[in-house]
Amino acid sequence: MMERKCILAPSLLAADFGRLGEQVQTVAQAGAEYIHIDVMDGMFVPSISFGMPVIASIRPWTDKVFDVHMMVEEPGRYAADMKKAGADLLCVHQEACRHLDRTIQQIKDLGMKAGVALNPATSLEVLDYILPQVDMVLLMSVNPGFGGQKFLPYTLTKVRKLRERILQQGLDVDIQVDGGIGPGNARQVVEAGANILVAGSAVFGGDAAENTRRLVELITGES
Ligand code: DX5
Ligand code: ZN
Repeated sequence: MMERKCILAPSLLAADFGRLGEQVQTVAQAGAEYIHIDVMDGMFVPSISFGMPVIASIRPWTDKVFDVHMMVEEPGRYAADMKKAGADLLCVHQEACRHLDRTIQQIKDLGMKAGVALNPATSLEVLDYILPQVDMVLLMSVNPGFGGQKFLPYTLTKVRKLRERILQQGLDVDIQVDGGIGPGNARQVVEAGANILVAGSAVFGGDAAENTRRLVELITGES
């Protein structure tokens, strides 16, 4: 379980939007391998964040993986434009796709990695037939829509079950966990079987470079 590379994915939702480019560069240089980009449409979740033009404008600031979390109804509508804007990995919510298999296929055909996200209350059973098709599963550890919420502890059980299932099936699928992660629980989330951790307020609330270094050390360090 622990031989899998652990990655920190700072969420730009908590960054200073007035200097997004610089902030991306700061966390990338401090050891973040993924940049987590939360796109919200005001329908799937109440908030509206940003879209393709903003993503395209920060693309030149780093070569790190742009991990785009689509909190958007029928995200397949934007897959091609997201690729053009610079997305490397497109993660869509199971709850937001009427034809999930088609949407995942579409993302892969465009040359991006494909992820599927589950809300906290969504059961792992919905993954039964799609798991072999995806590169990553994102388990939400808060209800999506806002940063700075409290981590839902039952997510740990869900992560353990999913990692077990992935191993049993001999698949190579990343598990990402998103919401309420910080220095107090990051290690626990990794020990449960996750290997990509999203953190918004824990990174950008304060010294982003220092927070990134500390979290990277915590999740990649020896237990
Ligand atoms: C929530 C977003 C998260 C959020 C995480 O809807 O998907 O990525 O920014 O923020 P924190 O780490 O502050 O919970
Ligand atoms: Zn997110």
